[in-house]
Formats: sequence, structure tokens, C-alpha cells
Amino acid sequence: MDGRPIGVFDSGVGGLAVAREVARQAPEEPFVYLADSGRFPYGPRPLAVVRRFTGQAVRFFNGQGVKLIIIACNTATAAALVEVSSVSPVPVVGVIDPGSRAALAAHRGSGPLAVLGTKATIESGAYPRALRGLGFADEPAGLACPDFVMAAENGEVEGPPVERMVASALGPLLDRRPSTVILGCTHFAPLSRVISLAFGPGVAIVDPAEETAREALAILRERGLEAPPAGQGAAGNRASGAGQGAAGGRYRFFTSGDPERFRTVGSRLFGRPINRVEPIDLERY
Ligand code: DGL
Repeated sequence: MDGRPIGVFDSGVGGLAVAREVARQAPEEPFVYLADSGRFPYGPRPLAVVRRFTGQAVRFFNGQGVKLIIIACNTATAAALVEVSSVSPVPVVGVIDPGSRAALAAHRGSGPLAVLGTKATIESGAYPRALRGLGFADEPAGLACPDFVMAAENGEVEGPPVERMVASALGPLLDRRPSTVILGCTHFAPLSRVISLAFGPGVAIVDPAEETAREALAILRERGLEAPPAGQGAAGNRASGAGQGAAGGRYRFFTSGDPERFRTVGSRLFGRPINRVEPIDLERY
């Protein structure tokens, strides 16, 4: 048993979909969520820059004494998972392998498998590589959707203007009639209903969040690092006194951007009130 928190990292609010899954699958696990909102978006940046930012996040988490790190950002996973895993003292889990596994489990029908992501993720070729590693021989169709990232970060995830924006961005892919679509950017999970509407019925929309949380929790179990059951009072399970009200005091949230903005949009995406968001200067790490 280990009451230390899990570190969950994204460039903004998107990774809250993964944090939410961790909280759903293992409510007793504490976590520290870090949003690099001050340097958001990562998608248009060179991979080398995203790699540097991700290294800073990992050093921040190490200072927080985490027991495992989830890179809940496809762009950061594509840019830096291999490198940070090789130097991190604790296990590091990305979203691309779990997302690819979940997609192959869901993939049926005669249409192609498609990946939506940021420009950096699509150009990195990380999803085709991961899918090939799992024995999938076909080349998936990839589409960069930078406007979805901005909409989700602003909390604009439904309504006719969003539906029009999504349908127009997906235009080039709709004609190819994919059977399966991977949401290869954590910011796309809150838009999944609108994305599904654009593709129409019968298209499997795969969000890597659930499988990512499952992989992270399996690693904790294998290594005997799970948190003690709620009520067994591990000191580390109270996350340094940073009470989170409805989140039960087990979760801490940090942002390099505007804490109030993160709190407002984040509470909606996390599905419960985030009462306190702490500012952080990642350039110090
Ligand atoms: N949420 C991130 C991802 O999963 C990227 C968003 C961005 O910063 O561009 O790729």
C-alpha cells in the first residue's frame, strides 16, 4: 500500500478526462494534476520544445513525491514518453499505447481506422507506430484538428456553432467513412458527442482515457503501490492538506496559467467542483 499521489499531466484541461477515469476506477487514489495552461497549446510547437516542457513537468512531479506519472496528453506522449520514461525514478504511462489498444479492440467493419490529434501528434507518426507495434498492418488516416483544442480549453463543447466547426474540420475524413476514430488528443474527449454526431451512427469513437487509467492502476497493483482503502487514514492520502471539497481532499490541481479560468472550465470537465487551483512556474524546474 502506498498513499503517495499519482501525477497527471496535460497542457491544459484535456487530461482531466483521464484524471476523471482514475477517480472513477479507483476513488481512493490521490492525484496531483498539472496543467501547463500558461504555455498552451502544445500542438503547434516543435516536438523538441514539448519534450523540454514535459521534462519540467516530470521534475515537478518528482518534487511532489508522486508514485507514478500519467502523461495525459497525446502531444507530450508523442514527443517525450520514451525519453522521460528512461530517466524517471517512477513509472510513466502515456496515452497513445492505451488508445491504440482500445481502438483495435473496438475496430470492426470495412472502413479505415482514423486518428484525430494535434498537428504535432499527427506529424510525429506516433499512432501509426503504436498500431503497427500491436500488429495492425494498415495505415490509419490522420487528421489534425487544432480548432477542437482551442474550443475545449475554452469550455465550448456543445451547441450549433461547435457542431458546425466540428463538421467542417472533419470534412476531409467524413468522405472516407472510417469505422473507428481515435480521439488522439485529450482535449477532444469533451467534444466526443459532437464528433460522434458528425460521423453519424455506427462509427466507434475511441477515447484513450479509460484504458490509460486501467493501465496505470494495473501497474500500481503489480507493484503493490495502490492507495490504502478510503477510511484507513494514510497521511499521504490527504494530499498535503490541500482540501478539494467535493473531491474529498485527495486531489490537488496546479496550473502555469490562470487558476480561476482552470477552476471554472476544469470543474465542468472533471465533473465535480474543483475548489482550489495552485499556481506554478514550470520554468523553475
Ligand atoms: N491535450 C493535448 C493532447 O492530448 C494537446 C493540446 C494542445 O496543447 O495542443 O494532445
